Amino acid sequence: MALLRRAEAHKLKQGSQGPEKPWSGNGAAGQARAKGTLTGAAQASSAHEQAAVEYRQLLLEEIDLEELARLDSTQQRVRLERVMSQLISRKGPVLSTRERQAIIRQVVDEALGLGILEPLLADPSVTEIMVNGPDDIFVERAGRLERMSYGFSSNEQLMQTIDRIVAGVNRRVDESSPMVDARLPTGERVNVIVPPLSLDGASITIRRFPTPFSINDLVEKDSFTAETAELLTACVRARLNVVVSGGTGTGKTTLLNALSGLIPDSERIVTIEDSAELQLQQPHVIRLESRPANIEGKGQVTIRDLVRNSLRMRPDRIIVGEVRGGETLDMLQAMNTGHDGSLVTVHANSADDAVSRMETLASMSEIEVPYEAIRDQINSAVDIIVQLSRGGDGSRRVVEVATVVSSRREEFALQPLMRFEQEPPGPDRLTRGTVKQFEVPAALADRFWLSGNPLPAHIPVEAGAACRQPGVAI
Ligand SMILES: Nc1ncnc2c1ncn2[C@@H]1O[C@H](COP(=O)(O)OP(=O)(O)O)[C@@H](O)[C@H]1O
Ligand SMILES: [Mg+2]
Repeated sequence: MALLRRAEAHKLKQGSQGPEKPWSGNGAAGQARAKGTLTGAAQASSAHEQAAVEYRQLLLEEIDLEELARLDSTQQRVRLERVMSQLISRKGPVLSTRERQAIIRQVVDEALGLGILEPLLADPSVTEIMVNGPDDIFVERAGRLERMSYGFSSNEQLMQTIDRIVAGVNRRVDESSPMVDARLPTGERVNVIVPPLSLDGASITIRRFPTPFSINDLVEKDSFTAETAELLTACVRARLNVVVSGGTGTGKTTLLNALSGLIPDSERIVTIEDSAELQLQQPHVIRLESRPANIEGKGQVTIRDLVRNSLRMRPDRIIVGEVRGGETLDMLQAMNTGHDGSLVTVHANSADDAVSRMETLASMSEIEVPYEAIRDQINSAVDIIVQLSRGGDGSRRVVEVATVVSSRREEFALQPLMRFEQEPPGPDRLTRGTVKQFEVPAALADRFWLSGNPLPAHIPVEAGAACRQPGVAI
């Protein structure tokens, strides 16, 4: 009786509590579905589903929500798992250890977090989670897409999960605001889009944080050679302005993070991102993050605002996660006015494409600057373009490092320092190729040398460089 009364009280509370609280939604749809008539292969999973719904109800009656709210998330999980375990023992169905664990996990996950997405979020090998309506869940592992064998128990369960995700950023999702960008408490980026905009059910896309790799880790993963690593290290140490270019998911942020790791500890670094992904280890880092407008359309802070503000923060280095618009002009101006050694990424498919794309992006600024003037800015600001690409086998590679050799208002001219030349895939479908290394222009080699970061002797340099004259110690 006491239990029941407590359960009633909880139900009353739920009504006034909004979607972020653990027990809202109450699985009514799951119950309806479990009661419905399912046939054939669906019956086994339907029995499991029905048990899950019953245990969910029992668990709801058993626990004290107020007490639960005082615990941190790990303690909440431990507490719920213990209660579930007791409930199963008390009810006494014969379950294998696996079945028992599966049902405990499902019920507790649904109660506390993002339901069936929880085990995927807990799996470090999953880099992206994509939900296309209640029945279709895909994940990306090691660069490859995999379809999950299970889905949400109902559309309501999916919508409840979405409500929980967006409640974390004080937003709601419905027909009048069907697209929301949010963050999980752990920081991962989430995009939600629901009908009528998405035609086949609500869609969730969760991007995991890229694993931080050091430059040496990336050499070990065969993303580039040790020579390329030496070249890139010299570029960062000699304070060259470096643009990392590539398509979505080619590893731009990962490389930007690795390159940033080469900046000396003594420098003051300002990072500017749409969604803070960089994980710098230096002691003196100021992380800035842009902000979208709120529901009333107010309070937006753009990358552009942050770039401008950063100039007044006495930065030694400015790192911009990605330029996508008019902020490119501010970034170029910063690079040209003493803020050298800046690092930035841009979405482009080749090194040549990267410079012309920056030109287009810079022209999106509301300050009207003639194209020739923008070209001048790019020619004098950008030193190095690092192009990334993703192979058919999911591998990510640096496919080109090029230096900008044009100056003033000249047409863009790039000179390659290295190139990955791909070969046709063999029966194993793995991406292979050879790395071609080009001579480093003499002026560039001397720039490294004069900054106290000479290139190692085994890296070829064009004739005429002062640093390679006989008698010069490297
Ligand atoms: N060199 C690499 N080798 C293996 N995996 C990588 C590499 N670079 C990136 N990844 C993985 O690829 C995914 C996308 O990387 P990310 O840096 O976010 O790409 P982008 O910024 O270009 O969208 C992440 O899961 C990341 O861990
Ligand atoms: Mg990125």
